[in-house]
Amino acid sequence: MQITVNGTSHEVTAAPDTPLLWVLRDELNLTGSKYGCGVGVCGACSVLLDGLAARSCQTLLADVGEAQIITIEGLASPDALHAVQQAWLQHQVAQCGYCQSGQIIQAVALLKEIPQPTDAEIDTAMAGNLCRCGTYPRIRAAIHDAALRLAVTP
Ligand code: FES
Ligand code: FES
Repeated sequence: MQITVNGTSHEVTAAPDTPLLWVLRDELNLTGSKYGCGVGVCGACSVLLDGLAARSCQTLLADVGEAQIITIEGLASPDALHAVQQAWLQHQVAQCGYCQSGQIIQAVALLKEIPQPTDAEIDTAMAGNLCRCGTYPRIRAAIHDAALRLAVTP
């Protein structure tokens, strides 16, 4: 089966009912997307499918089709981190880091849909991305920062 990840087409051999997360991690060695709960409730495995955040533990390979998959490894351009990644660094959001690729992916999807979100809109959009380290206040601050960065350099 052929899938497109971070702009590159890959032939993958996993069975069609394999969760995308395992294809990314085990077959393509893209280990930035994490296994947290495996049942769609933590968000650690989030990737972008055609620009929308999706839980890769709940997305079967057979259902990916021709969607453009972007993982945390594919967010930055060759010469700069994505604005959300820059804001994350600026605000030192990560603690243990386990949930963070999923948080960043979800934030990118949010800012695409709502370029200048309110605190309430951030809380709603990010509610499905859990962080055991409690980085929520810094996530919120970083999303506001990223929104400003994207307004200047979309
Ligand atoms: S590992 Fe996919 S939502 Fe938790
Ligand atoms: S930074 Fe540790 S779980 Fe979120």
